[in-house]
Amino acid sequence: MRIVLGVSGGVAAYKAVLLLRLLREQGHRVRVVPTASALRFVGAPTWEALSGEPATDQVFEDVEHVPHVALGQGADLVVVAPATADLLARAAAGRADDLLTSTLLTARCPVVMAPAMHTEMWEHPATVANVATLRARGVHVIEPASGRLTGADTGPGRLPEPDEIARAALAVVAGVSRVDAAGAGAGADRGPAQDLAGRRVVVSAGGTREPIDPVRFIGNRSSGRQGVELARAAAARGAHVTLVAANLSPDVAALVRAPGGVPDAVVEVETTAQLRDAVRSAAATADVVVMAAAVADFRPAHAPDAKIKKVPGQGPEPIVLVENPDVLAELARDRLRPGQVVVGFAAETGDAHASVLDHGRAKARRKGADLLVVNAVGEGRGFAVDANDVTVVDGAGDVVATASGSKGEVADAVWDVVVPRVASPTRDERAGTAE
Ligand SMILES: Cc1cc2nc3c(=O)[nH]c(=O)nc-3n(C[C@H](O)[C@H](O)[C@H](O)COP(=O)(O)O)c2cc1C
Repeated sequence: MRIVLGVSGGVAAYKAVLLLRLLREQGHRVRVVPTASALRFVGAPTWEALSGEPATDQVFEDVEHVPHVALGQGADLVVVAPATADLLARAAAGRADDLLTSTLLTARCPVVMAPAMHTEMWEHPATVANVATLRARGVHVIEPASGRLTGADTGPGRLPEPDEIARAALAVVAGVSRVDAAGAGAGADRGPAQDLAGRRVVVSAGGTREPIDPVRFIGNRSSGRQGVELARAAAARGAHVTLVAANLSPDVAALVRAPGGVPDAVVEVETTAQLRDAVRSAAATADVVVMAAAVADFRPAHAPDAKIKKVPGQGPEPIVLVENPDVLAELARDRLRPGQVVVGFAAETGDAHASVLDHGRAKARRKGADLLVVNAVGEGRGFAVDANDVTVVDGAGDVVATASGSKGEVADAVWDVVVPRVASPTRDERAGTAE
């Protein structure tokens, strides 16, 4: 395998020397890309002697081979260890101001980062936000270990041992996408089939809220349970999962943190506009997008900054609504990644003109999604209850499956329908583009 080992400037750079040796002993070709600061801790001769390849932070060397693009494009795996606070910030901002950050922008293979820094830096809101951004984009950020830091102090921020980083990084490529400091190889004895291993999945859950003023909103009754179960089921089946969570009810929010199939990244949103941005950002690298959130179709045209006051003897001003973007139809139209499977949810009620299923079929044809999961809501069904009863239709409106049971069981049944529609293995695709 062709591995790029990025090294940024912390004392733990010495551990990357051992990581390099380990990866070379396992037969991998490793190109070390240090930052300028990393070269002050460990010099280029060490990296070059142990890797057998040049080691530079410069984009203006060896220009005829266009290394700032070629290294990322040709890699099967990029590992950055240690990743400094500065490197995380530059990567999250999408900078390309040295060879390593340029490589991170051109890599289409799995990217694993092992941060190391003092606890204060690791816990600073800027670093927390940068890590969340990177995870939402599909980067596997390993939790640092707790222990002795550079000086006499201790706490979270320590680089995990080289063999742990190697095992975690190689497990990502092998399709076991969940990584943590102790978790190299985690998932080996996981129960469910790993039929989403190596896949990137985005699931939206909950219900959006549209502000009327700073204290009031238009919302809906969705608790987010079905979406969260879908995210958990996908994670348990090996996918890298980004959950876009809109106003989950407290019990469902607790479920997100519960053990077993926890999503890799959670992006919290409130309004439809925020949900749209978050889903589209994560969907750029996703194999499957599942829009399980109940998204408000309309929002107040104006939401004043101050609370609307009740004036005695004067009735309320009417609230004028405008239409929100149709997030599902846009995703189905734009296909932000080639071959992406787009799945929608339709919470419907029957009426005098048509049944729940007829409404769902019409919606499937209108939206252009690959699959639409139709469920009846109201009168103790669908929203905020533990069981669900769904019919899955394809883009033509034909029924392809039905499922009923707990929302966890329904989630697995939905993935059973989605998995065969996901295109052939990502690694074959990557090999194709790397040539
Ligand atoms: C002795 C020493 C140790 C350092 N250790 C770390 C560290 O562990 N983590 C970190 O984020 N920054 C550390 N720094 C600060 C970085 O070297 C500095 O932010 C630098 O700009 C990082 O550049 P780079 O991200 O391009 O490698 C250290 C600096 C010194 C002088």
